Amino acid sequence: MADVVPYRLPHTVVPHRYELVIEPDLASDRFEGTVTVALETLETVTELVLNASRLTLEDAVVTGADGVPAALEVSYRPDDERVVLTPPTPLSPGPAALFIRFAGPLAHDLRGFYRAAVTGPDGRKVLIAATQCESTDARRVFPCWDEPEFKAVFAVSLIVPEGARALSNAREITNLAERPGYRRVTFADTVPMSTYLVALVVGPFELTSPILVDNVPVRIAARPGFAHLTDFAADAAVATLRFFQNYFGIPYPGDKLDHVAIPEFAAGAMENLGLVTYRENALLVDREHSSPMEQLAVLGTMAHETAHMWFGDLVTMRWWNGIWLNEAFATFMELLAVDALHPEWDVWAVFAAGRAYALGIDGLANTRPIEYPVGPPAEASAMFDALTYQKGAAVLRMLEQYLGPDVFRRGITEYLTRHRYGNTETGDLWDALEAVSGEPVRVMMDSWVFQGGYPLVHAAVAEDGRAITLTQRQFRYQGRHDGVWQVPVVCGIRRSDGGGAAVSALLGREALRVPLEDGWTSVVVNQGGYGFYRVAYDPALWERLMPVIADLTPLERLGLTDDVWAAVLADAVPLPQAVRLWRALKDVPDPDLWSMVFRHLTLLEALADDDERSVVQSLVREVARPLWEGLSWEPPVGENVRQGRLRAVLLRMLGTIGADPSVQAEAKRRFAAHVAQQTTIAPELLTAVAEVVAASGGEPDWHRLHEAFVGASTPQDQTRYLYALANVGDPSLVARTLALYMSSAVRVQDSAGALGWALRNRHAQRATWDLVEARWEEITRKYPPAMLQALVSPLATVMDEPLAERMTAWLDAHPIPELVRPLAQAKELQSIHRALAGRLRGRLASWLAAAPHSGPDGRPGLSTDGPGSPRT
Ligand code: BES
Ligand code: ZN
Repeated sequence: MADVVPYRLPHTVVPHRYELVIEPDLASDRFEGTVTVALETLETVTELVLNASRLTLEDAVVTGADGVPAALEVSYRPDDERVVLTPPTPLSPGPAALFIRFAGPLAHDLRGFYRAAVTGPDGRKVLIAATQCESTDARRVFPCWDEPEFKAVFAVSLIVPEGARALSNAREITNLAERPGYRRVTFADTVPMSTYLVALVVGPFELTSPILVDNVPVRIAARPGFAHLTDFAADAAVATLRFFQNYFGIPYPGDKLDHVAIPEFAAGAMENLGLVTYRENALLVDREHSSPMEQLAVLGTMAHETAHMWFGDLVTMRWWNGIWLNEAFATFMELLAVDALHPEWDVWAVFAAGRAYALGIDGLANTRPIEYPVGPPAEASAMFDALTYQKGAAVLRMLEQYLGPDVFRRGITEYLTRHRYGNTETGDLWDALEAVSGEPVRVMMDSWVFQGGYPLVHAAVAEDGRAITLTQRQFRYQGRHDGVWQVPVVCGIRRSDGGGAAVSALLGREALRVPLEDGWTSVVVNQGGYGFYRVAYDPALWERLMPVIADLTPLERLGLTDDVWAAVLADAVPLPQAVRLWRALKDVPDPDLWSMVFRHLTLLEALADDDERSVVQSLVREVARPLWEGLSWEPPVGENVRQGRLRAVLLRMLGTIGADPSVQAEAKRRFAAHVAQQTTIAPELLTAVAEVVAASGGEPDWHRLHEAFVGASTPQDQTRYLYALANVGDPSLVARTLALYMSSAVRVQDSAGALGWALRNRHAQRATWDLVEARWEEITRKYPPAMLQALVSPLATVMDEPLAERMTAWLDAHPIPELVRPLAQAKELQSIHRALAGRLRGRLASWLAAAPHSGPDGRPGLSTDGPGSPRT
């Protein structure tokens, strides 16, 4: 820990209550304010050390126990984002009051206290000031002890122009005339909380009338012209708040709960206690004209942030190394809530994609443990990744299933109750779960949380044929590493009479023998699909699984499908093994499964040489056509969510990497009619149609998509068309798209992501990267660093070698501290992909021809190894 300490403030002085008065000036892009901090010195100190960044401080005064105010000398430490305040004589232990007058710039880069300027539907410009303090930008808003452990009460006042709304974490208590044209809005004291949760919002917001949930008023706020899109969020706000009060059995910790859509927003949403902020497409949705997945995104985000009111706000990690205690839990709780509120959305199967993404990253040498040391701010920011969110949530799901949902829930309640208004370490969570369950949670979970990577569980029929033997070794795409995990395995054993049994055990360093009864037909090792590990079946077990593939649960099948593809990438099995599986899945009408296969085939298409690409295209058509032909373009009335999603994913597949001319022509025809308002395309099909139209269309299609973007009346439509335009193929259309992305028609919050999509398009990547290099200075100034990940990660699939080398050289020469690990991961993935591309070269056609077209009766494939069985 010694290397971490320099970034931590001394604990000799502790703040208890901040009284803040802040006045933003949207005309001059500045703000000023005063802060009075009630603090306590724990020992005699010669200076006060606290955080401040980009602020100027004046009139700093401290009043100690003697009641005599003493002026403080201010010395700035900009590199440390600190100020040191020195009194004329040392401060003795005891209570003291610190007063500071300060001022700073209203930023344009969506960090700290920033300004958003957008044009409304009526053509009028709207100016908004809002804060985003997590992780370490509260220090850009006011001088403070900006570490999660320094919890304090905040008493906020905002001075705002007459007519503007002012919102903060707690209820408004007074709203008084300040001077002509201005009002002073004062808010109640908050409960004790961390500085990263402080929120201020000022602007012409419209609020829904409050709905009371156990006396807590809940409201939704949006800028003018968007109030009609708040109904869904209002219902979701009530439903999620009720769900969590009930799940945790602990009342909501704030005195009101507002959910506000901010038109420029760096993240998706932010869990400020009592004042949750969102980007517009994560809160505002038109119930009638949106797809179930767009509604899921809103409900899921709201559930996630609402869960944080307990996990994060009420109980907070001591330091940023423990951020998974916030984000993994909020992600897990979000899934639990959405599943309870909308079981028909199958959210755990949707999450399989997120989990597969985490398994991908975590199979790299450049992974990290979920919990990991953090020093300077860039390292805190770097913690918000797939390992914290998706791996963390997946590992919690595994634990929940292992302990049983009810025991798990009681453990969580115990943990939150013990530590409310306090700060915790991961061990505190294990203590509470052990106390409630009596299980050795710590031993098991430490192996998942404090070590990177995950196991590949190898299953083989024992020599005597009467058992299967399970062993583990670490999964890696390239190279080797030997971790050991406490793996909760659940083996599902089926018998020929239709019966079966489940055997649960903890697999450790030693091999495990699971007895087989006579008459067994097949074995699924990760039964239910809850485990965060991969499985390699020996050929005998694999052959017995193929015929029953349609009988597996969706999660089991998703796991199998992802594991086979990972084994191909790891060079543990040859490609035909995966092709055989895809062919066997042809009749399985599962949208999540096909989304996964679509991702695998998209990569295969990217890796194929130009002269072998058509082979992949025909494979795509071969596997996707049978199900597609069973569906009509128009969804039948009363169709279920899964079938609508299936249609969309098959359409995308066939119209993009399948290059199916009839699908492309029909998509263009239907889209033209949709834009001309002759017919309408169902919301769940619209994104897929837009993407196919962009990928296969010409200039008139570009204009239709552009028109649809400009005229979009919902945040979802805007997002859909903006990103669809990244998929164009013709160089002149690529140029148009890029010009649009760099123009003021695209908001700061969206343009880096949009450029990232263009970088993933083979036809656009060179032009996009030229632009990125040419405008690097502007780009790095305009966007918060974490957003630039969109420009780094696509490197993984750039197969144009000179371009990949240029990108690598540039990014090496222009390092971004927040993105050190994502860059290393992208490079490693690039090398994994290149290696597979090398193995495919010249062989693709014969491999695809050779892979059996076996139906579920599964004749043996080409490979002698089972999928995932390591090559030694
Ligand atoms: N606390 C985060 C927002 C955040 C992320 C702040 C990174 C600072 C750095 C928030 O709770 C969150 O996780 N938001 C997600 C959305 C959620 C539904 C996964 C996001 O912004 O993507
Ligand atoms: Zn979160």
